[in-house]
Amino acid sequence: MPKSSIPMKRQKIVAGNWKMNLSYAQAMSLSDAIAAAVKEETTCEIILASPFVYLHDVLRRIGHRDCISIAAQNVSDKVQGAYTGEVSAAMLASVGVEFALVGHSERREFYSENDNQLAAKVDRCLENGIIPVFCCGERLAERETNRQMEVVAEQLTAALFHLTESQLSESIIAYEPVWAIGTGKTATAAQAQEMHANIRQLIQSRFPNAAGKIRILYGGSVTASNASELFACNDVDGALVGGASLKAADFISIIHSCNQSERNLA
Ligand code: 13P
Repeated sequence: MPKSSIPMKRQKIVAGNWKMNLSYAQAMSLSDAIAAAVKEETTCEIILASPFVYLHDVLRRIGHRDCISIAAQNVSDKVQGAYTGEVSAAMLASVGVEFALVGHSERREFYSENDNQLAAKVDRCLENGIIPVFCCGERLAERETNRQMEVVAEQLTAALFHLTESQLSESIIAYEPVWAIGTGKTATAAQAQEMHANIRQLIQSRFPNAAGKIRILYGGSVTASNASELFACNDVDGALVGGASLKAADFISIIHSCNQSERNLA
């Protein structure tokens, strides 16, 4: 497995993307269960990306703690005004949202979000103190023709490479191969490590000081049983979890694997 040539200690993240799932009552009880299981001494950072309408109450349930925060699953590319149905980064910040997913493959595919919009969304986040979790990843046909790195490089260049080095350092990337999302077919640890190391090298070539700092999460069928192997990879700084984040026991088990991998590194 290729090792990172840019070693640096980065705090790992376990993020749950609830997508368009859960009733209000289910969302609150999931938040309570996670909050109860996450101790202050947890070594990784937990992020819950709930549907917009629950965000404020999820934050109330988890309490204002350093180790656990909320994320929006999307954010408008516009500042404010007559954009019916949109939610601005300023609105999100005003209710305590600290992170926002940008460019999830479901947004690209079902809502035709393009590179220009995604770059604008990243900008709106950073203008409002929200950390973008920028999602990238290739489709199955692109992997089968060995174009995965080219595709991911294009996505990253188009939406992130206009940032300053310090803005990029604090942003987060989530590598989510489309063929692994919701399919039960996760990338192998070697595939994940290879892509993450390549992404870091790409960043290094333009932003040498950001490459060791930026956190790169893996997403796509992460479960309680494959999380440890992924967290053991040098360039995998955590996970963005879909289906398994909806079940408290599974998500908590992934958090424990992450804490364990941090302890192994210490
Ligand atoms: P699954 O974990 O359900 O494959 O979803 C991954 C994902 O899309 C997280 O954003």
